[in-house]
Amino acid sequence: MKILIINGSAHKGNTWKLVKQSKHYLMKLNNEIEFDEVHLFEENLPFCIGCSNCFRVGHEKCPHYSVVGEIIKKIENADGIIFASTTYNMRETALLKNLFDHLCFMLHRPYFFRSKALIITTTGGVGGRAAAKSIRSTLKGIGFNRCYIFSKPTFSWNAYEPNNRVLKALHKRVNKFYRDVNSKKLHSPDVSLLIPYNLFRGMSLAYVPGTEYETKDGVYWTEECRRKTVYAPEVNVSFYKKPVGWLFYEIGKIAGNMKGMAVTYRK
Ligand SMILES: Cc1cc2nc3c(=O)[nH]c(=O)nc-3n(C[C@H](O)[C@H](O)[C@H](O)COP(=O)(O)O)c2cc1C
Repeated sequence: MKILIINGSAHKGNTWKLVKQSKHYLMKLNNEIEFDEVHLFEENLPFCIGCSNCFRVGHEKCPHYSVVGEIIKKIENADGIIFASTTYNMRETALLKNLFDHLCFMLHRPYFFRSKALIITTTGGVGGRAAAKSIRSTLKGIGFNRCYIFSKPTFSWNAYEPNNRVLKALHKRVNKFYRDVNSKKLHSPDVSLLIPYNLFRGMSLAYVPGTEYETKDGVYWTEECRRKTVYAPEVNVSFYKKPVGWLFYEIGKIAGNMKGMAVTYRK
């Protein structure tokens, strides 16, 4: 099993203590786990410059692809991913947000359908859960199948010592994450995910090759494997959720063709 750790904090502080502990619990569950770490502060990923190449012509054309492309490959090759972030101003760090900005094209063309995450945040007192939920909402949007959250207030700048209660709760969460990753089971998506997925599926038909403002989205959504299903073909969708997907697909098609709705770009 391969576990990738993406450290969104600019140092190894309170949050990293929980990550190290999680690593320890994981190794106790399976001593053959291969760990890999990405420390975003070492990656020197520039800010997204808003060229929109990723949306229009493909993410390989991102001026920062040499960094982003490598991280995408690492996420893709991992069985489970731990995202760690300090809470800054009630949200994830700018380092992690910057990575997510570079992955925004996947909100249009979700990708990581087999990925499962454990999100670890710490906060001084408040906002840690909001930060974790913000991370989860991005990960779910880009396709992640399951996200587990562990968030704790530390009441400390850099001298956090998790007590036994916290360690016990972390152990339980790590166990759950591990068992799910190990099962390789892909869970049926929530309806709240089927709505944006199918809106994009319908709306993007206005941007297929040959249309005035063709984009990579238009190519993605007309690929045979995506045309007839309300979610990624490899993920089973509960039968009662499927009509919701189809309904929003039809709404998306109408919205995509409505006057004044076309998303233009300078040619
Ligand atoms: C720039 C900055 C912003 C912060 N914002 C918050 C916040 O919104 N809410 C809060 O309770 N603590 C906040 N804190 C405190 C940290 O979240 C807290 O000390 C955390 O455990 C530090 O984790 P780290 O050592 O892994 O960086 C902030 C700290 C810094 C340096």
